[in-house]
Amino acid sequence: MNTEQVENTHIKAEKRSLVKVLSGIATTDGDGVKLTRIIGSPELNMLDPFLLLDSFESEQAQDYIGGFPEHPHRGFETVTYLLNGRMRHKDNAGHEGVIEPGGVQWMTAGKGILHSEMPEQENGLLQGFQLWVNLPKMAKMTEPNYQEFLPDVMPIERHINGCEITVIAGKTNQGTVGPVINDYTYPLYMDIRLPAGDHFVQNITVGHNAFIYLIQGDLTVEGETPLQDEKIVAKNLGVLSKGQQLSIVNGDKPSRLLLIAGKPLNEPVARGGPFVMNTRAEIMQAYDDFNNGLFHKASL
Ligand code: CO
Repeated sequence: MNTEQVENTHIKAEKRSLVKVLSGIATTDGDGVKLTRIIGSPELNMLDPFLLLDSFESEQAQDYIGGFPEHPHRGFETVTYLLNGRMRHKDNAGHEGVIEPGGVQWMTAGKGILHSEMPEQENGLLQGFQLWVNLPKMAKMTEPNYQEFLPDVMPIERHINGCEITVIAGKTNQGTVGPVINDYTYPLYMDIRLPAGDHFVQNITVGHNAFIYLIQGDLTVEGETPLQDEKIVAKNLGVLSKGQQLSIVNGDKPSRLLLIAGKPLNEPVARGGPFVMNTRAEIMQAYDDFNNGLFHKASL
């Protein structure tokens, strides 16, 4: 662990405390896929630059078998991260591949992508997340781009006490760097497994919005004073206050959590289904382009 290192710097880092805890709402999307919408619901409409976070987890094929048949996106990025099961992705430009557990697909939809995301399995557990990350005005109509990494190339930092961190984007306090490059929102995205009782510390860029999503276990986020210490339990998202550092004391069972942070864009947001732009007129243009078949061409 790196706590000694951090404490020995003698610089008092302002700790980020939990300012809001929520569990999302049950809904369906695509062709009847059951999911929990955690960001992008009345509880938490967005956490700039994060527009949506869906969690799906089921062993029942009827909950996911319909998948997400062909649909468009424009103006933002989708990040798919699976814990169990496999999804096949296919787009209108001939880009096709399978997303596997522990691997990631970071898709910059930019000016437009038409794709399908279908389960690559007929039974068994499918579990994972899709995060939508907004793009700044200057990049909303950029060329579509993929950053895809199979599980075997994902960096996993392993600490002596059993703590493991899969780093998708950003850098751990010990220097492990995730493969995803993003100069729009400089995101941090980590899948963290903590042994019972572990004390875990991670720096987060000052001014970036950040949250944790607890997949399993329970833990305490240490605030600036003991009075600000807050517990969070599995299947809850905790929005973090501003500050420099996340400091966690794990409970008496192993925990697993996502830590996600990014630079807020502070721009107007206009949403229309699968399109996220700055103005209503740009949303109408996206629908016009889609209805006129422009998304169906190999390049818009
Ligand atoms: Co999609």
